[in-house]
Amino acid sequence: MFSLTRSRWPILWLAAAVAALLCAGGGGLGAAAGGSEAAAPGPQAVAQPPPVPAAGPLARPRSLQQVGAPVLQTLAEAPPDNPPTPEKIALGEKLFFEPRLSADGTVACATCHNPDRAFADGRPTSVGIKGREGQRNAPTLLNALYNKAQFWDGRAKTLEDQAGFPIVNSSEMGQPSLDAAVARIGAIPEYQQAFQHVFGRALNGPDLVRAIVSYERTLISFDSPFDHFIAGDQKAIDAAAQRGWEIFNTRARCNRCHAAVNRDVTYFTDFDFHNIGIGIIRHHVVPLARKAERLLEKGDLPAVDRAAIQSDLSVLGRFLVTRKEADIAAFKTSTLRNILVTAPYFHDGSQATLWDVMDHYNKGDGLKNPWLDEDIQPLALTEQDIDDVVAFLASLTSAAYQELGARELERQRALSKISRPQRDTARAFGPKPPRPKPPRPDLSLRN
Ligand code: HEC
Ligand code: HEC
Repeated sequence: MFSLTRSRWPILWLAAAVAALLCAGGGGLGAAAGGSEAAAPGPQAVAQPPPVPAAGPLARPRSLQQVGAPVLQTLAEAPPDNPPTPEKIALGEKLFFEPRLSADGTVACATCHNPDRAFADGRPTSVGIKGREGQRNAPTLLNALYNKAQFWDGRAKTLEDQAGFPIVNSSEMGQPSLDAAVARIGAIPEYQQAFQHVFGRALNGPDLVRAIVSYERTLISFDSPFDHFIAGDQKAIDAAAQRGWEIFNTRARCNRCHAAVNRDVTYFTDFDFHNIGIGIIRHHVVPLARKAERLLEKGDLPAVDRAAIQSDLSVLGRFLVTRKEADIAAFKTSTLRNILVTAPYFHDGSQATLWDVMDHYNKGDGLKNPWLDEDIQPLALTEQDIDDVVAFLASLTSAAYQELGARELERQRALSKISRPQRDTARAFGPKPPRPKPPRPDLSLRN
């Protein structure tokens, strides 16, 4: 139960939601989804991005009054130069679903961050303008406001720093520049008026971003069965999930990274970066790291963005940002909230089910990789242990996604019965092999 029972935010958000509804009813800013400006199919039909999802009930700004929500931290997240107001949030929501923000009017933020899929897209890697497929899996935006850095490699610090990147990435929304997006949106009288009203000045790039981000900061998601369990309802999660929570914190070592401190029950991430061996076996990272050094000026973040989304350098992860050897193939620890409904998993969407994820950790995959995190090692978890941890992970599904979660659990369970490509019981129960040394002489990395 909360000590802070009455925050002003739910009221503000309710007002914002009402404003948004009225606005949509008037048709003024109604998004021209898949509209007239979509690229005309040429002689060879141009591949299309997926359709922009509708802004249904799950798109609405969320109440802060959710069991388990960190109320004070949430209120503290907005920076002084971007305080939330109901009108700004409503404008941001419109823009989030606005395909006219993209170069040819076909892709919105919601294309890849679909509220009905917990603001992910259900694909291994995302598909943007003209059907172009990127290298990375779209993370959920629920609770992204708490991240200490944005993107799998942390190349953007804040949400404000992040939002411009997809707009100008040529595989995502494809605008030549943020100014081009501003010109496009600014040519729509309803948006002109809305920006004038919300910010008291003409539309500009930073304000465009501020509005979108104000909306993103309302996407908080707690109130899961696990939160009710922690709040004292012993029956909120079953015995398997309770055992799974114990294993998560002990033999499975998950808490080493998926908790800021031991048994943290809020974020399920340390907000840090680790190499956990995803995909690295398939890639020759040393030549790739050399190539990154040659091609990318250190600190050129737009170039890092293009490399991460559009090139084979993507697998280098945090290294692209820091150029530190230890960051080769290190990625940001994901939150585990709503994890059941954001399959497939990992930065490359390479694992289909939570059972595959568990099999990966159980065998300590990537052990021949010198940059692997020390906490990745054979875990000797039994099938029962694995089922229990999956039951625990499933209990982190927020109330809004219970139905989807139930369907998804059955889908994944059925799939896991016929396909466990990562399972390697011999290795899971084997010894921890010695760690190879980084191939220093071959990799002359600058500092
Ligand atoms: C074509 C698909 C696509 C579109 C369109 C798109 N995104 Fe994303 N988004 C992604 C992918 C993929 C990532 C992960 C990329 C990476 O980390 O390198 C991502 C990452 C993010 C993150 C970081 C989350 C985290 O936990 O690190 C935020 C925030 C975000 N997107 C917001 C937006 C906003 C706002 C828009 C619209 C202005 C948008 N996205 C448009 C696919 C997309
Ligand atoms: C050494 C740190 C570390 C440990 C230990 C760890 N994780 Fe992770 N986890 C990460 C990182 C980093 C990522 C993102 C990696 C990537 O995508 O390349 C991740 C990703 C995941 C994902 C996928 C998230 C998504 O949105 O796709 C799941 C699920 C997960 N971990 C569950 C677990 C479980 C369960 C355990 C214990 C068995 C565990 N993790 C142990 C660091 C860790």
